[in-house]
Amino acid sequence: MVFTLTMNPCLDRYIYVDKLVVDDTIRAKKTIDYPAGKGIDVSRVIKELGGVSVAISLIGGDTGRKLEEMLDKEGVIYSSIRVPQETRLNVILETKEGQYRISMPGERIGVKKLESVLDVLHALVRENDTVVVSGSLPSGVSPDFYTGVVFTLKQWGVTVYFDADGDKLLAGLIGQPDYIKPNLHEFQRLIDKEISSVTEMIEKAKQIISMYGLKGILLTLGGKGAYYISLDKTLYTVSVKVPVKSAVGAGDSFLAAFALKKSEGASDEEALKWANAAGAAAVMTPGTMLCRKEDVEELLKVITVDMLI
Ligand SMILES: Nc1ncnc2c1ncn2[C@@H]1O[C@H](COP(=O)(O)OP(=O)(O)OP(=O)(O)O)[C@@H](O)[C@H]1O
Ligand SMILES: [Mg+2]
Repeated sequence: MVFTLTMNPCLDRYIYVDKLVVDDTIRAKKTIDYPAGKGIDVSRVIKELGGVSVAISLIGGDTGRKLEEMLDKEGVIYSSIRVPQETRLNVILETKEGQYRISMPGERIGVKKLESVLDVLHALVRENDTVVVSGSLPSGVSPDFYTGVVFTLKQWGVTVYFDADGDKLLAGLIGQPDYIKPNLHEFQRLIDKEISSVTEMIEKAKQIISMYGLKGILLTLGGKGAYYISLDKTLYTVSVKVPVKSAVGAGDSFLAAFALKKSEGASDEEALKWANAAGAAAVMTPGTMLCRKEDVEELLKVITVDMLI
């Protein structure tokens, strides 16, 4: 079984208006809500691709309930850990002049709730399962929390994918996951260096793999393709030319497809192909919308994977 963990989910509310006018009532033309949060995105993509996963997340208040209802509608299985703090709401004002993104501050989560995250994982997750741990942490939660979660899951014999940025990425790495999925910027921040060539990038990735006992690194470069790097091989898949609507969720779609296909026994090559197709398909959809299965299936026909070394 595949599980995802989202510590800091949110609801994205798109409000469409012509333009913002000070001291006047602005009538919204339409509003659309999307469930959001990286792990939840991964679970939704897995569902879209015909797989099954359980989205474990911290959920609170009316926004949390709304988020659950949306997952119900999509048929995404979830296991919520109730918190007294309201789930975050991001308001995105779509105007003719551009987009305004307003992110609400999240409230602090108590230590007891963090313990119950491990309890829930313990109750649900079994040896040889897959857990995708990704995204930001609620305020007041130290990045070290990720070290503990990843380390504990690994002790149980679980395959762990980890995707976060900055000090959280480093904290997760210390727990020794199987795979990480940084984009180039996140990877450069991790090694604290600008990469000047592909050779250097692969060399640095291998150093990280050795240092933290990883199986592999999925390094995504947006429209410039993606690499799967392990100690014994490097695979590259070139990005497909697609009509770009919104890059939001491309990384999550990519990771979801890779983790799902690997959990079904696919080779690294096959899983990378699916990942690239899902990432590109996500770019073709507007706003926070993720990939559509029919686009993924079409893109699979043209995607190639090359062995570099
Ligand atoms: N412009 C694009 N054209 C084609 N494919 C793309 C494009 N942008 C992203 N992709 C696909 O999506 C994958 C992930 O994209 P990217 O490297 O932007 O992830 P990310 O920065 O982690 O995204 P996110 O913001 O969702 O975390 C790429 O490896 C590629 O397969
Ligand atoms: Mg990302």
